[in-house]
Amino acid sequence: MAYVRSGTPPADALKTLWRERKLSLAPVDLSGVWRFREALPILPAGVEPVTLREGNTPIYGLPRCAKSAGVDELFAKHQGMNPTGSFKDTGMTTALSMARVKGFQWVGCASTGNTSASMAAYAAHAGMRALVLIPEGKIAWGKLSQSLDYAASTCQLKTDFDGCVRVLGEVIRRFPLYLLNSVNPYRLEGQKTTAYEMMEQLGWAPPDHVIVPGGNLGNSSALGKGFREMLAMGLIAHLPKLSIVQAAGANPLVRSMREFGGERIEPVHAETRATAIRIGNPASWKKAVAVLRETGGACLDVSEEEIGVAKAEVGADGVGCEPASAVTLAGLKKLVRSGFVKRGESVVLVLTGHCLKDPEYTMDFHRDTAAGNASLRKPPVLLDADAEAVIDILNRLGM
Ligand code: F0G
Repeated sequence: MAYVRSGTPPADALKTLWRERKLSLAPVDLSGVWRFREALPILPAGVEPVTLREGNTPIYGLPRCAKSAGVDELFAKHQGMNPTGSFKDTGMTTALSMARVKGFQWVGCASTGNTSASMAAYAAHAGMRALVLIPEGKIAWGKLSQSLDYAASTCQLKTDFDGCVRVLGEVIRRFPLYLLNSVNPYRLEGQKTTAYEMMEQLGWAPPDHVIVPGGNLGNSSALGKGFREMLAMGLIAHLPKLSIVQAAGANPLVRSMREFGGERIEPVHAETRATAIRIGNPASWKKAVAVLRETGGACLDVSEEEIGVAKAEVGADGVGCEPASAVTLAGLKKLVRSGFVKRGESVVLVLTGHCLKDPEYTMDFHRDTAAGNASLRKPPVLLDADAEAVIDILNRLGM
């Protein structure tokens, strides 16, 4: 779908226009998504989007993670700093705005927790009703609680994410409900603006590598689309290599690339504690394969232990993220070891969710005395209410 209007101003004029909008106080300009509206599906004249000031997320340096991965410099575009704590908000503002334009009362999604949190918030903000289908048990509590807090109708189905998608498909055939899963094209349109914003923040100089987690594969597809469009519009001079990292227990794309050259995919039974990407039958795999081919990116998986260590390392850099986001650092380490990423190359990890999304995972990691990563574990210490006891700890830790 080509959404760029034929009368779009030239690249330099767009860059100036988008930067100048940062000084505006209009909600549509304060949104880090709608600020780039020349590159977005156009809402009918006079229609205000449903926005919670999404986007405008920071790029942080990760100096300690860089060292541990073996690169000179490492950056993270932290999409967990969106209003509901995940990258989903950038696509939800566009798709939910379109749902309202189309006159729907109800929106719905199957989710591993972040899409549902985001959809629930935007639907509530727009005065619309939201149906959430989530897998029972395998969802982080932070995300489930958001769906309740934002007053969605939440159904925990006795199945996994892939089963929820199947059920939702049938519900939609029988009830007038607008589908907000990432197969929704407007979701991808909003999410692609993260690539635009990243380039703006980096002075329109693409990094050598962008690394993203892969679940249902909407995000990798969306970012790839963003970079492709920017190249076509003359906003950037070349494409970064966009690499996709999956959890080893939920790696259908990795298998597809390895076993079938990306020509077909076989669903897997997904199992990982990074519940956001516990997906065995990803909807947007064909688009993701196209992005890998076009940008020359790698596709790889990482173990549960590698995810746990990487998450603790991102935390120890003062940034923090949820487990699914940490696959990017774990993947980078492997890519450096294999020589795909060179020490002096520039790398941006896309951190997709906030560390408060899944505090149970964090607590388990730090309290797990069996895990081998003693230097990273910082379990809470139980002491008497006594300054001596605390000073004793400080002395033991050293000056
Ligand atoms: N990281 C986080 C934190 C996610 O929530 C998701 C997907 C992904 C990565 C993977 O992105 O699916 O576009 O490849 N979460 C979806 C959800 C499936 O329902 O919240 P993807």
